[in-house]
Amino acid sequence: MAITPFTPGFLHRIPNYKAVYMRFTYYGHSCFSVSMKGKKLLFDPFISPNEQAAAIKVDELNADFILISHGHEDHIADAVSIAQRTGAKVIAAYEIHSWLNARGVSNTHPMNTGGKWNFEFGTVRCTVAQHSSTLPDGSNGGQPMGFLISSEDATFYYSGDTALTLDMQLIPGWGSPSVAILPIGDNFTMGYEDAAEAAMLVGCKKIIGVHYDTFGYIRIDHDKAIGHFRQKGLELLLPDIGSTIEV
Ligand code: NI
Ligand code: MN
Repeated sequence: MAITPFTPGFLHRIPNYKAVYMRFTYYGHSCFSVSMKGKKLLFDPFISPNEQAAAIKVDELNADFILISHGHEDHIADAVSIAQRTGAKVIAAYEIHSWLNARGVSNTHPMNTGGKWNFEFGTVRCTVAQHSSTLPDGSNGGQPMGFLISSEDATFYYSGDTALTLDMQLIPGWGSPSVAILPIGDNFTMGYEDAAEAAMLVGCKKIIGVHYDTFGYIRIDHDKAIGHFRQKGLELLLPDIGSTIEV
């Protein structure tokens, strides 16, 4: 699988995408849900501290699974309360699983980068993310990660908080995501220029941007970001908080 990074025309080598739809709901920052095979997967719950997500009723959110990319507050703030209320199974790094167990969340599945596991909704493969992962109380959250999630119906990639990294070249060898959910806010993660390069490494033309505008360091110009992706033949979607889109 020799893939040259940053080569224009690279996407020609990616097989045609299946015309399937995935239901994506955005809850602000990097929190979103995806429905797969009748199961609701909630990612990186950070709602109650996010003023921009004030309209989202965190006490009414349901989930069958909660996936946590890393231990930072802006990805885990509401994980304990939602997991306890819903009984959703939490999928996260081993260290985060232990931390949740110590806080009364027992329905957890520990994983680590490089590993994959078949769940009822599909296969989760934990991918490398270049970031850090300290939990809110200073505990070690293990390795930060992203997820490649595949079922017969859909394949998508959520990178988690990460820099652009050449490890992303491995992803097309594991599956062809029809959608990539990538941070675009810069400063703490890749910015939108690097996210467009990441999309090309992953071999995905449809990108949903996350991890932007929530606080000062990560405010971006939406039109510039969308235009940058368009110039590269890519589509950047920035759904409103609270909205559901089919992709
Ligand atoms: Ni982070
Ligand atoms: Mn973050």
